[in-house]
Amino acid sequence: MTAIVETLDLTRRYGTNLALDHLNLTIPEGAIFGFIGPNGAGKTTTMRILTTLLPPSAGEARVAGVSVTGDPRAVRRLVGFMPDFFGVYDNMKSWEYLDFFGRAYGVAAPRRQQMIGELLDLVDLGHKRDEPVMSLSRGMKQRLSLARTMMHDPRLLILDEPASGLDPRARIELRELLKELRALGKTIMISSHILTELAEMCTHIAIIERGRLLAAGEVQQILRSIRAHRIVEIRVVAGAARAEELLRSHPEVLELRREGERDGEDASPLDDASGPHLLLVDFAGDERAMGELLAALIASDVRVSHFAEQAGDLEDIFLHVTRGIV
Ligand SMILES: Nc1ncnc2c1ncn2[C@@H]1O[C@H](COP(=O)(O)OP(=O)(O)OP(=O)(O)O)[C@@H](O)[C@H]1O
Ligand SMILES: [Mg+2]
Repeated sequence: MTAIVETLDLTRRYGTNLALDHLNLTIPEGAIFGFIGPNGAGKTTTMRILTTLLPPSAGEARVAGVSVTGDPRAVRRLVGFMPDFFGVYDNMKSWEYLDFFGRAYGVAAPRRQQMIGELLDLVDLGHKRDEPVMSLSRGMKQRLSLARTMMHDPRLLILDEPASGLDPRARIELRELLKELRALGKTIMISSHILTELAEMCTHIAIIERGRLLAAGEVQQILRSIRAHRIVEIRVVAGAARAEELLRSHPEVLELRREGERDGEDASPLDDASGPHLLLVDFAGDERAMGELLAALIASDVRVSHFAEQAGDLEDIFLHVTRGIV
């Protein structure tokens, strides 16, 4: 696959604040590329540079080989951008809203008519064609905004947190919509704080924090390296001291923590009377080994009310990523 986006040591400062620090990103054409990071990581900044709305302080960004600073007009034709907030065009009707953006991009009248119909159908808003934008629900506005990014038929869609504020059903619909867009040959860059929200629909992901790239690659490959470690939660109602002893001597237990415990572990044995206790185990084994671990606990007469792998939220992923992958 050829790269549709390439950044080379892309750097952006706001005063003394370094928002992007030598970021090197590659997005292959045809990918659904998840861009993940916590608040202030630099996601919006990167996206605004790629859409030519913000100049870089140093480094380079190219879309389909075209430099964002060298030929911004050409880049704008290639890119559709859905910002993280919906603009204020409240007194327009849905079709007028799309028409407005079509005109702004210089799409000819007959083609605009056709696109408006097709795009409203694509995002399931055909029935809202003549309704004022103001009357649409948040999810509908998001979909209309997505339709708008496609008015000039760009190759690359850059969507800044399109799923935020959507209910679970609307999220699923969004996911389906992105798959359809990909089938139409679009490359999609999409940002989120939540890895699990993206992992399922993306082909590639990049994780950034404080303007630095922590990890990037194919989803499967990144998930695999993350899964090499897992945090297992074990809630013990009786036999907590025995459980701890067993876990500490287990070769695949890399670290054992009691819930709520900070640095400096408490050496005193756990007492069942003050329980139940939640133990957090950094476990290097696979799922089969997890089964064996549970069997061993029960065989040692430990009573377990909960035994589960922690859902990989962003925080864990960051821990793992910063510990090992890079
Ligand atoms: N217009 C601005 N002026 C000054 N600093 C800014 C500006 N925009 C962003 N920053 C700073 O740049 C850094 C990156 O911000 P950015 O908006 O790119 O993060 P983000 O990953 O999109 O975060 P969020 O998840 O909150 O949307 C932050 O430290 C932020 O304070
Ligand atoms: Mg942002």
